[in-house]
Amino acid sequence: MYRRFLSKATTRTMSSLVEQSKKLAAYKAVDENLKDSHSVVGVGSGSTVVYVAERLGQLEHKSSFVCIPTGFQSKELILSNGLRLGSVEEYSSIDIAFDGADEIDSQLNLIKGGGACLMQEKLVASCSKQLFIVADYRKRSPEKLGHAWRQGVPIEVVPAAYNKVLNDLKNLEGYKSAKVRYGGTFKAGPVVTDNSMFIIDADFGEIPVEKVSTLHSQIKGLVGVLETGLFANMTTAAYIGNEDGSVATL
Ligand code: 5RP
Repeated sequence: MYRRFLSKATTRTMSSLVEQSKKLAAYKAVDENLKDSHSVVGVGSGSTVVYVAERLGQLEHKSSFVCIPTGFQSKELILSNGLRLGSVEEYSSIDIAFDGADEIDSQLNLIKGGGACLMQEKLVASCSKQLFIVADYRKRSPEKLGHAWRQGVPIEVVPAAYNKVLNDLKNLEGYKSAKVRYGGTFKAGPVVTDNSMFIIDADFGEIPVEKVSTLHSQIKGLVGVLETGLFANMTTAAYIGNEDGSVATL
């Protein structure tokens, strides 16, 4: 809404600041954490991970490691940057993974799934010895997850179960609203994930740090739910690109 009142030039400056902060965070995370000994590298999804793949693709020793994607977009990023493509079926132990996030709280709990890749992102994260998150300054929640400008908690569901899950969610503590995510070229139908599932975006307001795991377990326990976008206790560190060109490490 706010963007409608900004001049085109201001909007352009904002978006180039955001892009710059994504790139700085991604490059720093790779430069500081990828070691020569790492032979299996997870590559997440989203617009910030584009810069992770770009940086990995610039490395002289890039043929010495294999990259594990978290979905179709990430597979394309790996290939287009001249990186070796592997799969989580072949490599269930991953040395290090890089991924983006929609929100990060003070304890490094995450909301992910803005790009509808949450199941495979969680699979790769759970196979990884270390998970580094890269994000721009807008993703940092000072304390709790659940900032209003985001769309809530993404939940990947079996298509036939979407209505049941929508109803079940109403019984959970903190529930405010939930809806099936629509999208695609003509916005005519539900978004379909790489696993042929639907996405429900559920608003639970602010989620206190100590409740992230419980809420995840409650949602995951509903029949029809494949995975939630709540990532608790999985992150090794987060690299946040700031507006002033610095990168904060959390
Ligand atoms: C996709 C994700 C992304 O990592 C998340 O949405 C962040 O994306 P971006 O870097 O474009 O803001 O979870 O499912």
